[in-house]
Amino acid sequence: MTEISQRKADHIHLALQAEHQAATSAGFDRIRFEHCAIPELHVDEVDCSTVFLNQYCSAPLIIGAMTGGCEHGEAINRHLAEAAEQCQIPMALGSQRAALQEGLAQDVRRWAPKAILLGNIGATQLQQHGVELAQRAVDSVQANAMIIHLNPLQELVQPNGDRDWRGVLDAIEACCATLSVPVIIKEVGSGIGPSSAQRLIDVGVSWIEVAGRGGTSWASIENARIEQTREQQIAAPFLDWGMDTAQLIPRVRSQSSQLGLIASGGLRDGLDIARSLRLGANISAMAQPFLQPALESTEAVIEKIEILREQLRWAMFLTGSKNLKKLQSAPLLPM
Ligand SMILES: Cc1cc2nc3c(=O)[nH]c(=O)nc-3n(C[C@H](O)[C@H](O)[C@H](O)COP(=O)(O)O)c2cc1C
Repeated sequence: MTEISQRKADHIHLALQAEHQAATSAGFDRIRFEHCAIPELHVDEVDCSTVFLNQYCSAPLIIGAMTGGCEHGEAINRHLAEAAEQCQIPMALGSQRAALQEGLAQDVRRWAPKAILLGNIGATQLQQHGVELAQRAVDSVQANAMIIHLNPLQELVQPNGDRDWRGVLDAIEACCATLSVPVIIKEVGSGIGPSSAQRLIDVGVSWIEVAGRGGTSWASIENARIEQTREQQIAAPFLDWGMDTAQLIPRVRSQSSQLGLIASGGLRDGLDIARSLRLGANISAMAQPFLQPALESTEAVIEKIEILREQLRWAMFLTGSKNLKKLQSAPLLPM
């Protein structure tokens, strides 16, 4: 097993453990809708479909970026991709770096011929190898858009992680200007705040996935993999570092009404999806909640999607919202 494959296998194993979820929630529990006692709707009328990247989606939900390139990687990606195809929801791929570097086959498009697929590489790989690497990542799976992930905390904690982040913004600007598909910039669990969002908007980014604090903690996962106690001591105060997703969404939205905004980081059910849309997101993403079903089967992933979609529709019914546009102005209780 190569070093990258071993790391990915560790990530999957550790991400399933509750202790590597953030110590406190993403803040969605503080967001409460005003209950609508007279919905004046039939539940069957409630329509949670949306359009993302000019394509129909049965729900405002993306299967979040998770890893391939290890022992279980192919099965995980196959189960996720087949479910995305059948349920008509988008799927984000995990980092394609290992597959591109090692020349491995990337079969995801074969399992999801019509689904919206989002490619993925790290910002430091983009800075080191340029737009050409991002374009190869897009072409290898015929991606509909390309995600570039920002993970400075994870790289700090990770042994041999990338520590030179100079030139990342220039690389993103070049990518936005020349890549053949839209660029989405995401974090991995510390969040993209309003100041960073503005700098990204200024260099031409039109989609941001906030990936805030409250779900999977990458500092905690990487910390569990390091053996040196000195390194663990340095990392200790940062294990819960980051900005809560529920607070970030309205603050990033206030930077720009035009920005495409993806809510992620600690969303755990369909009610969280409803809350994140009400706070200003266009669409949401979940990663860790799909990991266990993805290890099991395509049917298990489909079941998970159907439960999330039904929870969202209940939230819409109980706020008297026939469609997502209505949900986005449903009354909230004062905090
Ligand atoms: C097992 C696992 C692997 C991940 N790999 C990647 C990755 O390769 N690229 C990436 O951008 N994000 C990756 N992520 C981060 C997620 O996309 C997401 O931003 C983060 O886990 C927070 O969302 P969550 O709380 O729903 O898990 C991974 C997450 C998990 C659980």
